Amino acid sequence: MADGAHHEKIELITRNIRTFPDFPVKGINFKDVCPILKEPSALSAVVDLFEEQTKQSFPQVDIIAGIEARGFLFGPLLAQRLGVGFVPVRKKGKLPGPTVSLSYALEYGVDVLEIQEDAVTAGQKVVLIDDLLATGGTMHASCKLLEKHQAEVLGCFVVIKFKDLKGEEKLHDYRVFSLLQC
Ligand code: PRP
Repeated sequence: MADGAHHEKIELITRNIRTFPDFPVKGINFKDVCPILKEPSALSAVVDLFEEQTKQSFPQVDIIAGIEARGFLFGPLLAQRLGVGFVPVRKKGKLPGPTVSLSYALEYGVDVLEIQEDAVTAGQKVVLIDDLLATGGTMHASCKLLEKHQAEVLGCFVVIKFKDLKGEEKLHDYRVFSLLQC
């Protein structure tokens, strides 16, 4: 994609993200990606840029895995463009049938992520997708969960990365791509 077209898509995506201060708790500046979904050209721009990055960096991808909840908004569209399957990484207790789970530490307490046992097979190459990277805890746990299932994580895609929260440091073993940074 030419630089100008790339820049225009980034601008379009940026214009369609809103910030809500103090949500869900005081001190958090919530980045709301819902306007992207309401504007077809902005949604196409997100998928175009993820598609381009995948083709450039991970043409061997077998599966796109989306992280609950907003990874489900972009992941299936990307998977369809690439002609590969999509699998959901969900919070505990949401998926039917046999699952593989992984618990990870939060600031206070623990959380659990799950995939269905037949979501990936050993050796499959996966790209993970979510709306944003903050501390990186969710993305890191998702990578580990897929690896626990003998899948290979090629890379991690997010729409927005919060630079100051240093999520990428936690993901130093992985290749992380964000469309925007804040
Ligand atoms: C948000 C976001 C990521 C995660 C990033 O999800 O969509 O999944 O937090 O934070 P981290 O990098 O610090 O782990 P949230 O916890 O709000 O869950 P939801 O998408 O189910 O609302």
